[in-house]
Amino acid sequence: MISKSMAASLNNHMNFELHSSLIYLSMSSSANELGLKGAANWFMVQYREEMVHFMKFYAYLVGQGINIELLPGKEVPNSYKSLLEMMQKTLDHEQIITGCINELSEQAVQEKDHATQIFLHWFVTEQIEEENNDRDLIAKLKLVGDNGHGILMIDAEMAQRQFVPPVGAPLAV
Ligand SMILES: [Fe+2]
Ligand SMILES: [Fe+2]
Repeated sequence: MISKSMAASLNNHMNFELHSSLIYLSMSSSANELGLKGAANWFMVQYREEMVHFMKFYAYLVGQGINIELLPGKEVPNSYKSLLEMMQKTLDHEQIITGCINELSEQAVQEKDHATQIFLHWFVTEQIEEENNDRDLIAKLKLVGDNGHGILMIDAEMAQRQFVPPVGAPLAV
């Protein structure tokens, strides 16, 4: 049993994770348009990860007896000048998500809601990984600048990323 207020906050964040997935799906298409198939793959994997995040919140809320509410979607940007811009927007977005996860954790602590605290632990750790991946790629992209050869080398590295569903992830996505 979780409070109405905790359920509303988690429901709101669940929708934010769904929105994240659409941002990255759109970036995948934009990377493809820039001729960067590896980056398109990287963002497609990120889209699938975000769907897992969304489903984790969905499954937790449903498991707590909550009828989830899908909110109308916000506009999804689909125009980017460069891969560096996409990665910087990705890091900005993930830092906002980290802040939201911290707020949710704070609420769960204040409400002495131990179940929600445990549920959120996975996301606290996941956000460190997310931001770190983005920072690494931004650093590399800054090193190569406008050098096409360098960008293609980073693109080839991004082609290697594979989707690995986390252990215990709800439903196959
Ligand atoms: Fe996420
Ligand atoms: Fe991740």
